[in-house]
Parts: sequence; structure tokens; C-alpha cells
Amino acid sequence: PHSRKSKTDPLHEYRGVMFPRGVARDHLDAMPHFQTREDDIAVVSYPKTGTTWMLEIVSRVLSVGGKADRTSEEIGRLLESTVPGSSKPSHVSLEDMASPRVITTHLPRQFVPPGLSKPTGNVKVLVVMRNPKDTAVSSYHFVNKTHQQSGSKVPLKWDSFSQEFLQGKAGWGSYFDHLSGWWQMHNDPHFLFIKYEDMKKDLRAAVKKVANFLEVSLDEDTLQDVVNDCTFGSMKANMAKSQHAGKKVLARKGVVGDWKQHFTLEQSDSFDAMFRRALGGTGLDFEYDE
Ligand code: A3P
Repeated sequence: PHSRKSKTDPLHEYRGVMFPRGVARDHLDAMPHFQTREDDIAVVSYPKTGTTWMLEIVSRVLSVGGKADRTSEEIGRLLESTVPGSSKPSHVSLEDMASPRVITTHLPRQFVPPGLSKPTGNVKVLVVMRNPKDTAVSSYHFVNKTHQQSGSKVPLKWDSFSQEFLQGKAGWGSYFDHLSGWWQMHNDPHFLFIKYEDMKKDLRAAVKKVANFLEVSLDEDTLQDVVNDCTFGSMKANMAKSQHAGKKVLARKGVVGDWKQHFTLEQSDSFDAMFRRALGGTGLDFEYDE
């Protein structure tokens, strides 16, 4: 087993992909046996691509649509992890969740239950994506914060962090592999792919898209309420009030293009080259400027 050199959040390797300790081998072993239901809703994202944001939208849309009344925290428990404050695996506790369930995961496509990698019935899978450079920067700040919270006085070095990110030496593996695995489903009607950059550009349109996908019709006023609650400002204010200390780091800057404050030209070129190698010609592209 390999582990990252930093003292915090040691990673372990499972079938060639690195995972944090909380994503135990046992949980990953259980994934192929996890039974999906015909009306499951899944939110798939690589860490730091806008998971919390999408979960807030999904939770609000389901609630105003009268489909389910659950907070974004409740629906945000990772399938591959444990229920916070207990040792019960989420995949076990999900067996008792009322339908429609919301299943959230950061897993690459090859590791999810078959009902999510090749969905049938009315299963709906929302895939959140963000440009890899901003994702790496967001991830850097997040990992660095937990690193310092655990007592380290020396910040992580961006140069080595970004190299490791590029090479997939990060929790949940390579972001580029994650994208290429899920993007294979982009023509499948069970899927909706949404980009962080598009949510930033037009949140109202994004909420509408999610609502349509989840078969919830919203009148204009309700739609506007949901939009207002899901802006960066509203979410940041709500997180600041939250008891969970960890919630506060989930709203940092919330912009497109922060990568320019960190990347050298060379680093930027190697990210572009990697993107071309993994996803060139697939029709997927990202915006890198606000
Ligand atoms: P930054 O670190 O670039 O600010 P995740 O929820 O997957 O961990 O993603 C976290 C990223 O989403 C952070 O990015 C965070 O600020 C951003 N984010 C969270 N809520 C947001 C919102 N309402 N609008 C825009 N960005 C948001």
C-alpha cells in the first residue's frame, strides 16, 4: 500500500486508485453488490468540483417539488464512506432510506454499483464537473487547511501538490480519469452533466435544468427562491452559522479562474496536455475564465 508523504489524511491504494482512509477497502468491495432502486437519484462529482452546491440545489428542488424533504447534509453522505459520527457504512444505511433516495459519490465510474454505471429504469445520475485547474486549486486549499488544522505549521507546496494532482496521486484518483469514465455516458438519457462554470454563469438556468431532469416543475417565484438560496453568498452565510466546523471550508472563493493566481505557465501547459490526452476529441471542454 502506498501513502502520500504528508502526515494528514493518509491515502491507500485500491485497484490502482488512491483513496482516503475513510473510504475503506470493505466499502469499495461492497459496491458491486449494492442494489439501486428504480427511482434512485445520484449526484456524482470529483471532490471540489461543486458537490455541496449541487446538493443544495437538489435538496431544495426535491423539497419544493414535494418529492423528499432532506437537508443537503443528509443527502451528501458519500456512498463509499461512513455515516458521520458512527461506523455504519453509508451503503448500509442507504438501505433504509425512503425513496426517492439521493446517493452521493466521488467514485470513478469503474467502482460504482452497476445500477449507477449503467443505469436502468428511472434512475437519474447528475454529474457535476469543473475545469481541472480550478478544481486542483480548490483541492489544494482544502487539503492544506486540514493539513494545518492537524497541527502542521508548514503549508503544503503548491508545486508538488499540483504535480500529484495531475498524476492522480490524490484522494479518489485522477480527476482526468474520473471525467473520462463518466463522460462516456454523456449521451445516455439517465444522465445530466452540469458544469460548475455554467452554474456560475447562469444559476437560474442550471436550477431549471436540474428541476426538469428530476421531473419537478417550479413556478417562477419558487424557482427564484431556490436560486436565491443557492448563491455563493447565501450558502456561505448559512455555512458560517453551521455547527459543523468542516462546513466552513466548503465555501471558499466560489469563482472561475482562481487558478491563475497559482499556476505557472508550465503547470498550465501540462494540465492542458493531460486534458487533451484523456479527453481530447470526446466533445468535453471547459471554460477557464469568468
Ligand atoms: P473554491 O475552493 O474554488 O472556492 P465541493 O463542494 O465539491 O467540495 O466544492 C467546493 C467548491 O465549490 C469551493 O470552490 C467552493 O467555494 C465552491 N462553492 C460552494 N458553494 C458554491 C456556490 N453556491 N457558488 C459557487 N461556488 C460554490
